[in-house]
Amino acid sequence: MSAQILDGKATAEKIREEIKDDVSRFVAQTGVQPALAVVLVGDNPASQVYVRNKETACVKAGMKSLMFRLNAETTSDALCDLIEKLNKDDSVHGILVQLPLPKGIDEKRILDLIDPQKDVDAFHPENVGLLSQGRPRFLPCTPYGIQQLLIRYNIETKGKRVVVIGRSDIVGKPMGLLLLQKGLGGDATVTVCHSRTDNLADVVKEADIVVAAIGKAQFVTADMIKPGAVVVDVGMNRIQKEIVDENGERKTVSKLVGDVDFDAVKEVASWITPVPGGVGPLTVTMLLLNTLNAARRLVADAQ
Ligand code: GUN
Repeated sequence: MSAQILDGKATAEKIREEIKDDVSRFVAQTGVQPALAVVLVGDNPASQVYVRNKETACVKAGMKSLMFRLNAETTSDALCDLIEKLNKDDSVHGILVQLPLPKGIDEKRILDLIDPQKDVDAFHPENVGLLSQGRPRFLPCTPYGIQQLLIRYNIETKGKRVVVIGRSDIVGKPMGLLLLQKGLGGDATVTVCHSRTDNLADVVKEADIVVAAIGKAQFVTADMIKPGAVVVDVGMNRIQKEIVDENGERKTVSKLVGDVDFDAVKEVASWITPVPGGVGPLTVTMLLLNTLNAARRLVADAQ
């Protein structure tokens, strides 16, 4: 039997409508328009697409988007000056520095400098610490989106064995922390696997829920999945694929695939996210929510 689709795109659209209504109510009550400052350094093509998506989503939700595009030769000092300026600017509620930064820029120094109250990515050590203690200020966008997707499809996490594949600071580690929290969308028994995990396939096979965030195209195969498991695919990998076109000619095309071998795994899983249209749209959505919440807190603190 084929798995049912966890439709991230539709879920993201629904949440964005809710956020848009909340933004319009907030603006009517306070006269303040939530504003997100996005900083892009260099010309990484994928980052340029992500940043454009964030800008468009912000505007559609009724928020202000401030874009700062800096060239790849920008120094750490110059970037720090910009962050300090944005930290002090009361009309800016969220600050996001798109990663990866070009080589030569001290990423930790930059992320640590962002005012934790405006850190809508939840990458600042203070916000990571608050999350790990179970009293989060901001939730990191991709794990937050995945948790919302599971909640909105009534997929129980309480008491379930979840295996996260990948230990990145952006997805793997915070995903584990979120699923460990007490309450709805949490209370799971979490294992975080990575490239050095012994018998990784055997560990994944025990999971009721698998979150694949390892950055390797089609890494998770059907034999690794327990029948009936829920599979969430965070991967965004470009592969070259040979096809035969309508004239019968062979040609190589570029295709976006996840970390999961979707066609095979969907025959074993009960629920699965597609790529694209799964986790991706939810990440931007939760960024919007974090920005609105940052504005709510900053405006309340100023009163
Ligand atoms: N690059 C890839 N994902 C992210 C993200 O969630 N936030 C930022 N700032 N950069 C990224």
